[in-house]
Amino acid sequence: MSRLIAIAGKGGVGKTTVAALLVMRLLQRGCRPVLAVDADPNSCLDAALGISVAKTVGGVREDARKFTQDGTVRGMDKKRFLELRIAESLVESDDFDLIAMGRSEGPGCYCYANNVLKAVLSAMASKYPYVVLDNEAGLENLSRRIVNKVSLLIMVTDPTIRGFETVRRLHSLAGEMEIAYGRLAIVVNRLRRKELPAGAEELGKATGADIIMGLPADEDIFNISEQDGNLRHLSPQNPVLTGMDRILEMV
Ligand SMILES: Nc1ncnc2c1ncn2[C@@H]1O[C@H](COP(=O)(O)OP(=O)(O)OP(=O)(O)O)[C@@H](O)[C@H]1O
Ligand SMILES: [Mg+2]
Repeated sequence: MSRLIAIAGKGGVGKTTVAALLVMRLLQRGCRPVLAVDADPNSCLDAALGISVAKTVGGVREDARKFTQDGTVRGMDKKRFLELRIAESLVESDDFDLIAMGRSEGPGCYCYANNVLKAVLSAMASKYPYVVLDNEAGLENLSRRIVNKVSLLIMVTDPTIRGFETVRRLHSLAGEMEIAYGRLAIVVNRLRRKELPAGAEELGKATGADIIMGLPADEDIFNISEQDGNLRHLSPQNPVLTGMDRILEMV
């Protein structure tokens, strides 16, 4: 059974960074193959992992909608066609693959396309022992159930009161939307001191998180973001990268 790790949080807190570092750490620990799913149209999970995506699933969805409307491809052919197109969007790297969801739909009915997409993605994900899903801010992708049950939900926050409030809100929203997850980890990212800020323990209790942990603000990550963004340049001893081990103990 594949273990699905999904990352959520408000904008700019470090979701994509954590997603990329998790993929890297999984590979370093010999957990492979890994499927990385980039579900944020504005994200650059591919660049963070040192690869480049040419096609996203977004274009496939658009095609599917057109076919549904004009009837050029029918029935099973249509499903098969979509499956092939989705498979084409998969970027294969040495020990991990990546699929980018692209932008979400414009006006018009995408129900059929989205249903096929969900089915194909689930089938695809089930072939990998580990799946890491990077999301845009909020919980939209998880609420659309583009994936089946999440094994570990990671909520990333900055070490601020407002960040903590957002985590509380996301946690209640996840409950309201009945988003199913096995375990919950809260990651307080870009810490400037060793200790977690006041309120962290309280946040952990309020959300029932299995773990609340910090990751340091890191000069090397900052420098990489000013260059090509490829986190694979990081040393294997980088403290933020090795910090992923505590998260991975939970999956
Ligand atoms: N621990 C860290 N130390 C230093 N810089 C960091 C750290 N974590 C993230 N960053 C930097 O913070 C910026 C935002 O990170 P990232 O893109 O991962 O956030 P995000 O939550 O995915 O943003 P978005 O909501 O736009 O998708 C990037 O420039 C990244 O390099
Ligand atoms: Mg991001």
